[in-house]
Formats: sequence, structure tokens, C-alpha cells
Amino acid sequence: MDIGVNNIQITKTQNSKLSSVDFDNLPFGKVFTDHMFEMDYKDGKWQTPTIVPFGNLQLHPATSALHYGQAIFEGLKAQKTANGEILIFRPDMNIKRFNESAKRMCMAEVPEDLFMEALKSLIDLDREWVPSNDGQSLYIRPFMIATDDYVGIKPSDNYKFVIILSPVGAYYAEPVKVKIETHYTRAAEGGVGRAKAAGNYAASLYPAKLAQAEGFRQLVWTDAKTHEFIEEAGTMNVMFVINDVIITPDETKDTILKGITKRSVVEIAKDWGYTVEERPVTVKEVIDAINNGTLQDAFGAGTAATIAPISHIGFEGTTYELPPVEERAFSNKVKDYVSNYKLGIEADKFGWMVKV
Ligand code: PLP
Ligand code: COI
Repeated sequence: MDIGVNNIQITKTQNSKLSSVDFDNLPFGKVFTDHMFEMDYKDGKWQTPTIVPFGNLQLHPATSALHYGQAIFEGLKAQKTANGEILIFRPDMNIKRFNESAKRMCMAEVPEDLFMEALKSLIDLDREWVPSNDGQSLYIRPFMIATDDYVGIKPSDNYKFVIILSPVGAYYAEPVKVKIETHYTRAAEGGVGRAKAAGNYAASLYPAKLAQAEGFRQLVWTDAKTHEFIEEAGTMNVMFVINDVIITPDETKDTILKGITKRSVVEIAKDWGYTVEERPVTVKEVIDAINNGTLQDAFGAGTAATIAPISHIGFEGTTYELPPVEERAFSNKVKDYVSNYKLGIEADKFGWMVKV
């Protein structure tokens, strides 16, 4: 066993699975690296941080996360540059958001410096796993579950914090067809929509399945009260370009995940001199813009999804076809820029990248 920085205890695997992975055919999220980070919270404090061989978790059948969903996660990515360096994209933002989710779900927070060190140490140990083919990256999945073995309802006294790594290919292989949802609700004001809480995703599955049966890939959620305002999609924030103005729902209500990809796109667009409006966005203005030909671009922004062009929007029984993807000036440009930025091809002018 080695002791790393921040006293992380490292136990290396004796059986690397690396040689069995087909890096030319990487799916999203099904292949995992040789190691994982694991740290338990008990008696009011975090116990020894460890990196151990990747393997199953042993859980008591009454583990509270399994019953009541006190569980949160994050998703971020690292890339390998042409000269073999590994760069993580804005991990400080994910760490902060993780702890905001923890607070909302009444869970223990993870010290930021230890979290960052855990990411770096784990990725460094599994650095051979970071893929380098076009469009591939290392998807990093930190998560935390409540681990009291207790069937009563109360905030857990015990937590398990884990980070796993997955070399991935594209999440969406093609432009997405979305449906604007006007019956089911993802998040209401005062709820947990802003948190990356496991249950938010469970609750989205049934409405998404209904939309999939109609031929859509993903839902665009609207506000719970009126269903007149666009919020976000299932795994990404949404952005539109109408009359050369970039428009995206603002984050003042606590119903929308504060996306790091979207924040980055907004910062880049402003830097490029675009007008960006973060404000309530109505379904009506988007449909009107499609109808009168002023909608130039529509896309999702998310870690897994990257910049995902929206090809069609379904609303109240009509499917609207959006402008051809190849003609979309903004999303194509920002997609290339973000992808080159993550690969270290573009200079890190915003100071976002963290080297492993
Ligand atoms: N909205 C939801 C519900 C998500 O799950 C995600 C993905 O993390 C996003 C938006 C995009 O956020 P980010 O860009 O930080 O990945
Ligand atoms: C993301 O990390 O981008 C996510 O939204 C997680 C997704 C795979 C469900």
C-alpha cells in the first residue's frame, strides 16, 4: 500500500483490465478503469481516503440511499492532449456543485482540496485509460450515498463517497430530436431540481419513455406551474440562437441544474462579442421563431452530451424541423472551440483546465 498526498491510501490492482478494452469501439459509460476512490463518513468525520481496485460495493440491505434516495452525483471529463498530458475540464465547478447538492440533500460535504486531490490521484493512477481517439474522453463520476443501515427516515449519519472513471465515446451519435413536455414536471420551485440528486433522473424516466415511444430522444422540461417556460433537457441545458442573439433560461429559480458546459458556452460567446440573454425563455417565442424563420440554432450543452445540436422539436403534436445542422454558425463554432480547448489545442485563456 502506498500513501499519497492528503494521506490517500493506495492499493493497486494486480490484474489490470486495460488490455481487454477495445478503444476503437468505446460505448458511453459501460467500461470502467482499474481503480476507484472510496471514502466513508462516520462519527461526524471523513475516514481514511483510499484508492482501491475497482470492484463491487458491499451494502447492508437497509442502506438508506437504496430506500429513500439520499444520493447525489457529478459528471466531469478529462482528456489526453497530443503530447500525452491529461487535462480535467473545470473540476473546481463540479466540486462546488457537488457540495451544493450535498447541502440540499442534507448530506456531508467533501472538503474541496481533498476532492481535487482524489480526482488527480485516481486519474494519475489510471492515466493509461484516458482515451485519445477523436471524440473520446475519460468520464469521471463522483457520487455519494447515505449508508445508515436504518429504515427510519432521518438524515443519515454515515456516507460513502466514491469516484469511478469510465473511458467513453459519444453520448449522442447524432443530432437530437426533443419533445417539449407540458404535462409531466422535472422540478418545482423549492424542490431539488438544482441538485444533481439521483432521484431527479429516476423521476424523468417514465415521461422520457413515453416521448421515446413517439420517436423523440429526450424531453425539454418546462416550468411546473404554467408549462410555458423552457427549463432544460434531461441531461443538458438548452440554448437557442434567435436573430443572432444567444438565449438560454436563467438560473435564478432553483429548478434548473447550473450547467458547467452552458456556463462555459456563455462565457465564450460573450468573449467572442455575441449578445447573450440569460432570462426566462417561453415555449411560444421559440415556436414563433421557428415559424417565422428567425431561429438559427438550438442545442443542448452538457458534460456527457457536449454540444448537441437539436434537429427537431416536438410540441403539442407537431414536430418542427430546425435549420440544417451544418448551416448553424454558432453551435458548430463553439463545439469545435470547446473540444479543442479541452484537448489543449486552444490556449487556456480562461484558466479552466487542471493538469493531472
Ligand atoms: N442538466 C441536467 C439535468 C444534467 O444532468 C446535466 C449534466 O450534467 C446538465 C444539465 C449539464 O450540466 P454540465 O454541463 O455541468 O454537465
Ligand atoms: C452528465 O454528466 O452530463 C450527465 O448529465 C449525466 C448523464 C450521463 C445522465
